[in-house]
Parts: sequence; C-alpha cells; structure tokens
Amino acid sequence: MSIVREVFGYSSRNEAIYSYTIVNGNGTTMKLIELGAALQSLKVADREGRFEDVVLGYDNSKQYESGNGFYLGVVVGRSANRIKDGRFMIKGKSYQLEKNDGPNNLHSGSDGYSSRRWEGQIVDDERGQAVCFSIISPDGDQGMPGRLDLSVTYILTEDDSVILEYEGVAGEDTIVNPTNHSYFNLAGHSSGTIYGQKVWIDADEFTPSDEGLIPTGEYRSVSGTPLDFRAAKTIGQDINSDYEQLVRAGGYDHNYVLKNNGNVELVASLEDEKSGRYMEVYTDMPGMQLYTGNFLSGKVRGKDDCYYSKGGGVCFESQYFPDSVNNMAFESPVVSAGVPFEYVTIYKFSVR
Ligand code: GLA
Repeated sequence: MSIVREVFGYSSRNEAIYSYTIVNGNGTTMKLIELGAALQSLKVADREGRFEDVVLGYDNSKQYESGNGFYLGVVVGRSANRIKDGRFMIKGKSYQLEKNDGPNNLHSGSDGYSSRRWEGQIVDDERGQAVCFSIISPDGDQGMPGRLDLSVTYILTEDDSVILEYEGVAGEDTIVNPTNHSYFNLAGHSSGTIYGQKVWIDADEFTPSDEGLIPTGEYRSVSGTPLDFRAAKTIGQDINSDYEQLVRAGGYDHNYVLKNNGNVELVASLEDEKSGRYMEVYTDMPGMQLYTGNFLSGKVRGKDDCYYSKGGGVCFESQYFPDSVNNMAFESPVVSAGVPFEYVTIYKFSVR
C-alpha cells in the first residue's frame, strides 16, 4: 500500500502538475492528476489476476488542459451536462453562460474546472488511501453566481472501490452539479469498443431530449425501448436501433432517472464477460448520464500512443438532470448560500 506524488507535467502557466499514484493491497493502482482532478489511469485485475488499465486518458498535461471536448477522466463543473441557451435565473436574476455546444452550454463552457489545475493533497481517511483536490471558483466565474469552494476526494479502498466525494460551500445560491467523466473499458483502455460489454441500470425512466440533447421535461418509461437496461444487456445489442432518441445522439447519451431517493445506492453496473471484470456504480445523485463515447473520433490520441474511436469507452456520469436549473419538472441543482453540500459516487471493481 502506498501513495506516490510526483510531477506529471507543467501547465501552460508553467505550474507543476502533480500526479498521485495509489496502490492497494490487491495491486489495484489508481493514478490521479491535478489537471481536471482527473482519474488518469486505473489498473484492475481480471479473473486470472492480470492487470489492465480500464479508463481512457492522456499521457501528457497539455492534452488535459486543452480538453479536446472529450473530457477523459476529468471532474466537470461547476455544472455538468447541458443548460439550454446557456441561460438561467436564480432569485429573479438572469445569468448567461458561454454557448459552447450549438446554442447551449455544455459542461460549463471552455473554461470548465475540467481543464484547470486543482490543488491536490494526500489526506487521512479511514476507508482507504485518499487524495483531496480543491478548487476555488470566484463569484462570476464562468458567468455563475457566487463564489464556490469545491473539493473532490478520491479514496481507493481495500475492496477495490473508488469513492468520489464532492464537498463544498457556495457564497451565494448557485448551481453545483459536478460529475466525473471517466470513460470505462473493462477490457482495457486501448482494446477497442465497449459494445460487447454488458450494462445494467436500475432505472424505469429516462428523460428524452430534443435535437440539442436538452431534456424536454418528459419522464419516459424505458419499457419497450432500446434504453431499457433493467435486465443487463450488451451496449451493442440495441445501439443501432432506429429509435429516434438513439439516432439523434449517435448512440446512448441519455439521462436516467435513478430510484435512490438521495441515498448512496447501487444504480448501475458494467461487465466484461471475457476478462471477468465487473464494475458497480453507486451514487446519491438523482440522475445518471449513460454516454457511449459517440463523439470519440478515432483522432483522439490517448495513453500509450493509442487512438480512441467511437464507442471506445462508456461513461456513467452521476448528476442532477441536464438543464434542471430551467426545468421545473426536475430536482433543482441549486445549493443555498452558506449551506455545505456533499455528493458521493462510487465505482467498485471485482471479477465474476
Ligand atoms: C457528455 C455529454 C455528451 C458529450 C460528452 C463529451 O457525456 O452528454 O453529449 O458532450 O459529455 O464529449
């Protein structure tokens, strides 16, 4: 068991970017970096005890800083996913964010927390070995109201759970909707597509979206649709169906309505039957975006000089629903000034 801190690279402002490599008693190895508070690599064993890196990522800090619009492994904030027209109102005041996804705001615009340096620190935690990353986001940052002090702590436990704990406090009522944008591929980050891997999601409903991938406000039953993952099935089984929602998004890029009632509960899983690697997702957030890497273009140069193509990884982004700040049908992502908040998401690995 160990945590090693070393220089990963330098930012464009010439600040040193540190990485933290945590190894647990099973040999599971997690590497985190300060840019985007990213999960840069995660090596977990298969049935035979062979380790493979199961998350997509980059080898150098420049690519994390430029982001490339793919958000590999990073923490997204202040507000993950889309806000219609980049506009919203809080307490009768209107705010305009950058429109970086057609007419809409995606992942808080080009100056997201996902491409900034967070301050890393090794911390004590009884659950495992932990590193806390903090960021201070001033009032007006990205067009958002109020200062936000946000941290995300990653904890690697001895039972191969990666716990992500988001905590903080805001200076004014503001949106706080962070997520981790890791792309998982349980056969290995450079092994090709995830279409043969099996997903299960404990959700009876999803929120259909318009052409700009903004939810319409409808809650739709997954029953009889290709979005039904209540019985585990391969990602590829129905992905090419002509169901309008899938055609529109070029695959799965949809928010599921979770049934956890604000408690940290098992909500989804991913399985690679060949290697036996199995991952469970737990969260207390109300929604989860299933995103099957539809925009990965084959031109995305990743770790070990490999190229990530469409479907090269799958994201399970726990979140408040997209555009929930504008949609009265959805739970509000607005936190109150001075009231501390905490959200938890866990990725737990094992073999079957
Ligand atoms: C999220 C969005 C996708 C896409 C990716 C980043 O998952 O829902 O539409 O923007 O981020 O490529």
